[in-house]
Amino acid sequence: MKFAPFKIENFFRQHEFSAPYGISQSDTEPLTLDELLAYASVERRQQFETLWLGYTETQGHPELREAIADLHRGIGADDVLEVAPEEGIFLPMSSMLEAGDHVVAMQPSFQSLWEIARATGCELSFWQQRRRDEGWHFDVDELEGLIRPDTKMLIINFPHNPTGYLPSRADFERVVELARRQNLILFSDEIYRFTEHDEALRLPSACELYERAIALGGLSKCFGLPGLRVGWLITRDGDLLHELQEMKSYTTICGSAPSEILALVALENWRALTARSSEIVRGNISYCRDFFGRYNGLFWLSYPQCGTITLAELKADMPVAEFAEAAVAEQGVMVLPADVMLFEGNYFRLGLGRTTLPHALEPFEQFINDQFC
Ligand SMILES: Cc1ncc(COP(=O)(O)O)c(C=O)c1O
Repeated sequence: MKFAPFKIENFFRQHEFSAPYGISQSDTEPLTLDELLAYASVERRQQFETLWLGYTETQGHPELREAIADLHRGIGADDVLEVAPEEGIFLPMSSMLEAGDHVVAMQPSFQSLWEIARATGCELSFWQQRRRDEGWHFDVDELEGLIRPDTKMLIINFPHNPTGYLPSRADFERVVELARRQNLILFSDEIYRFTEHDEALRLPSACELYERAIALGGLSKCFGLPGLRVGWLITRDGDLLHELQEMKSYTTICGSAPSEILALVALENWRALTARSSEIVRGNISYCRDFFGRYNGLFWLSYPQCGTITLAELKADMPVAEFAEAAVAEQGVMVLPADVMLFEGNYFRLGLGRTTLPHALEPFEQFINDQFC
């Protein structure tokens, strides 16, 4: 199996820790260890400080699995497998897909959500995003036309990276029904769940609605804790869970002991942490409405109802890849262009989760003024 280079990860490897500014990150402002521990009960803090640094339980810390299950309806701790978030994509794809299988995935989407299937030799059909006047859309009728009698897996990601798109509940339920009708494995990447700007918009997890769904969640995005490397896979199908667990023996085997306790602190305070993230994102959206409002002729963008990211179109006569290269070279601002996300169009990703965004937009403004004004 030969994987193509993971373009977005290579881009971040090149720029994330060297460019002084960034406007394209997908997480919310990460917390420091002190900030997170300030949420901990006395018992948890003590547990963290006196922690035995041995191997941990391979399915994940039982209390942590319980806390993860509690975020979902009708899910028990035994339905949960703790993983590193990206590992949570690798395990189902590598254990359940074989050459020749037909798979439906979204386009664009995070590269591993379809690249592992491609490298395995699967036949892929892509459910394409469409731009509508006011924003982005995935049409469920189009999806229905892509599913074949021999389709094995449907891969979805809502809230969506890179647009922040969230379907209506009716559309989401239709997607799940399409999977159920043919007994497909439904892999649902829900890593951006809990970033809804209004809690009423939150969709159920696919694992609550359908037994053969495998849901991926984690602490990287709206919990502001990507450095913990804690995520989870949930399925109510015992055979699928067993396959995932078997494959995990070939990757990380078990989770990191300190991260498990810190993840427990986070989940015991999940309402406070997600409220913190929503406040940052809402503040940045309001800032960006003003900022980009001043450059209507140069950019088009829509603001999502959830998520930490959106796509902005560069309307100038300049390829966005060139624009991004010049922004980092001239003003030290990291801007993620569409070609790195493997789709066409003159778009770049705008990250709405960092408290540093307004500060980073200052050299960005200098750059666009130098280029275009
Ligand atoms: C849609 C999606 N799924 C999974 C991941 C993996 O998360 P992590 O980078 O924390 O492993 C990402 C990261 O950007 C993502 O955007």
